[in-house]
Amino acid sequence: MYHYDAIPYTPQPFAQTHPQQLAILGRLFGIASTDPGRCRVLELGAATGGNLIPMAWYYPQCEFVGIELEPSQVAAGQALIEELGLTNIRFLQGDILTVDVLALGKFDYIIAHGVFSWIPENVRDAMLRLYKQCLQPNGIGYISYNASPGWHARGMVREMLLYHIRDIKDPVAQLNAALEFIDLMVDTLTSQESSLARYLLEEFHYLQHANHSYVFHEFLEPYNHSYLFSDFIYLLEQNGLNFVCESQLASMFAQRYGDRAEAFADTVDDGVRRETYLDFFNQRTLRESLICHAELQPDYAIDLDLLQQISVVSQLAPPQHLETGKAKAQLFTLPGGRKYSVTDPVAKLMLKRLYHAYPNALPCASLFQEIIDNSTIRYEQGDEWQHEIFSLFVSGALQLVASPTSLESAIKSRPQAHALARAQARDKHPITGYWHDVIDGDSFTLALIQRLDNMSDIEHLVDSMTQELADGKLCLPGLNIKTINPAKLRVQVENNIQRLLQLFCRQGLLL
Ligand SMILES: C[S@@+](CC[C@H](N)C(=O)[O-])C[C@H]1O[C@@H](n2cnc3c(N)ncnc32)[C@H](O)[C@@H]1O
Repeated sequence: MYHYDAIPYTPQPFAQTHPQQLAILGRLFGIASTDPGRCRVLELGAATGGNLIPMAWYYPQCEFVGIELEPSQVAAGQALIEELGLTNIRFLQGDILTVDVLALGKFDYIIAHGVFSWIPENVRDAMLRLYKQCLQPNGIGYISYNASPGWHARGMVREMLLYHIRDIKDPVAQLNAALEFIDLMVDTLTSQESSLARYLLEEFHYLQHANHSYVFHEFLEPYNHSYLFSDFIYLLEQNGLNFVCESQLASMFAQRYGDRAEAFADTVDDGVRRETYLDFFNQRTLRESLICHAELQPDYAIDLDLLQQISVVSQLAPPQHLETGKAKAQLFTLPGGRKYSVTDPVAKLMLKRLYHAYPNALPCASLFQEIIDNSTIRYEQGDEWQHEIFSLFVSGALQLVASPTSLESAIKSRPQAHALARAQARDKHPITGYWHDVIDGDSFTLALIQRLDNMSDIEHLVDSMTQELADGKLCLPGLNIKTINPAKLRVQVENNIQRLLQLFCRQGLLL
């Protein structure tokens, strides 16, 4: 029915669905969520396992179950699971509507990303019943869905595309016709001035370059229903479930929409109505909601002392000269270039230490103590560092996690990437790091990962990849092979390999 065999879904990890993330958000709001290092996780509509298989790879002590309707996707997931020799994950072909819930047992975390809005009502209702029946009493669920009213703007595009393909039966022909129509709309809208035309141009322009499977499954599938937040909550209540929070915590803070929006939100004493208004303010198109049993009442008075019991992981690079003598704002930078201002000296030193420890997570309490013991900072009682670390977490600049890690990833003389990374590189699927992030990979990066098999030393890798570039069998983005001399080419290749090995090491890809 969904044509995933004809137009396969690109496998992808979603960091916001990871049990580490769900656990910490649950705890923040007073739910004693299960240790994500030893838990049972169920994913509904698990496709080919792009989300679940990397979790199973990095978390051998946990148990994972994926349920997927389309046999071809289940077969692809199972093939990778067997290739990797994973014994902590089961991939089952089944329908959410009819799956034997008792046989599944209970789960600490249940995930459904990209499913809820895209299934008929009876399956949606079965899905919510399944959450109720299969979540442990302290379990946390994750459901993403298209959000009203923001998604209606995109719904205009869907309506046009559905009309255009209405008489075509074959899914590939439907997609091709839709792609042609998207081109036509871009041309047609380009010369128009109205604000609606400009908005539509932006949407169609985006679709011109978007992944084809996204275009098909988001815009051409028979089901795509968006929900007003208050309607979603009504459905939860009908099924004995409760809302915990949004995975993007920042969206719940009204001040990001301006003073007037904040003042208005403060006058709304009902949490559901307040969240619904926030969706109006930010034209939200997608929600990623965390849920729990109705018997649990999330406590929204956040106690920052929780930081004393949890760990933190951060890639924020400190500035070259760290000022720790006094409270002075300085910019810390994420690998993609986004900058975040940090003022408190203790927070700055913590971040510096975390940057060097990455990808490992360190416990906040002992990290704090270590900074105080080893620096000349006169720490005056106060919890400024807690506020700064917490607000960086809310803005998505760092991650809070349940426990510390002691991951060993090193660049050895004969570097070896783990089997998951090599399989993902071979299949041109997103390379997934330890913290479930996607590592962007051009063709050179993918080629290098596949060669990291513990057989070649770095010298040999440089020689062979230089030769392959010279022979035109490989390409290095931004490099013109015709104008560069052989010695310079080799230096470029060596620099790139060294840079990438550092990156792979920091992402936990090397054994
Ligand atoms: C849009 S895809 C999302 C896939 C994946 N969760 C992701 O976000 O990348 C929806 C998935 O749900 C599956 N699905 C749809 N209806 C289902 C049902 N009744 N039971 C199980 N899986 C279903 C589809 O086959 C498809 O793989």
